[in-house]
Amino acid sequence: MSTLAKQTIPASTDVPRHIAIIMDGNGRWAKRRLMPRVAGHRKGVEALRGVIRACAERGVSHLTVFAFSSENWRRPQEEVTLLMELFMRALENEVARLHENDIRFRVIGDLSGFSGRIQALIRDAEALTRDNTRLTFTVAANYGGRWDIVQAVKKLMAAGVAAEALDEVALAQQLSMAEAPEPDLFIRTGGEQRISNFLLWQLAYTELYFTDALWPDFDAAALEEAIASYRARERRFGRTSEQVKAAS
Ligand code: IPE
Ligand code: IPE
Ligand code: MG
Repeated sequence: MSTLAKQTIPASTDVPRHIAIIMDGNGRWAKRRLMPRVAGHRKGVEALRGVIRACAERGVSHLTVFAFSSENWRRPQEEVTLLMELFMRALENEVARLHENDIRFRVIGDLSGFSGRIQALIRDAEALTRDNTRLTFTVAANYGGRWDIVQAVKKLMAAGVAAEALDEVALAQQLSMAEAPEPDLFIRTGGEQRISNFLLWQLAYTELYFTDALWPDFDAAALEEAIASYRARERRFGRTSEQVKAAS
């Protein structure tokens, strides 16, 4: 039996344990209203608040959102600056509410790209909420799936791990999301059907859901539709449909 065949197959659950979201379409939402792009990003923060609440109420245990990719530095300087300000304000204003709701907050990505002030706010928020258990809410910021794999390999090499000792489990343990189950459901709003260098390793067997809804319009009802689509699927993990039915 190959090592892959021996790996445990995650149990299928009615509600996804882990939902990963690419929150896309803020700019277009604003443009349609003849507003500056940043107005869409502001509205996007509000939409996120609603989705966090809905996930907690729904019994989802992990929510991971892509807020700023390693490629987003390529945007006009003015937009990058405004996004950083928005990120800082959100860290200042939202963390207390997360903590009150027993939500653990984490940030993954190359934090060295951020200002000292933002890095300090992240550290404080993670420390404050570290023992919360209702929902783990992770923000991917200055994150890239390829960066994540490379930093994991670097850690293994620095620890002197021999080539023969390297396997999928050893590598996965060094990734930023090591302690979370792999996402069951991936959602991308905004109509684009691509992964854009999000959680490359962890999305290997995730159910993918794409919607034309723009992120600021994505609400609890839209989340419910995505979960309904997820429930209607058969997760085979390489097996036949008959095997899946016999196992459940
Ligand atoms: C997603 O919305 C938010 C970030 C990437 C920060 P966009 O800003 O990509 O919105 P569109 O794709 O231009 O509509
Ligand atoms: C992906 O959105 C990253 C985030 C939502 C933060 P983009 O809008 O930047 O993705 P591409 O460049 O169109 O693929
Ligand atoms: Mg976009």
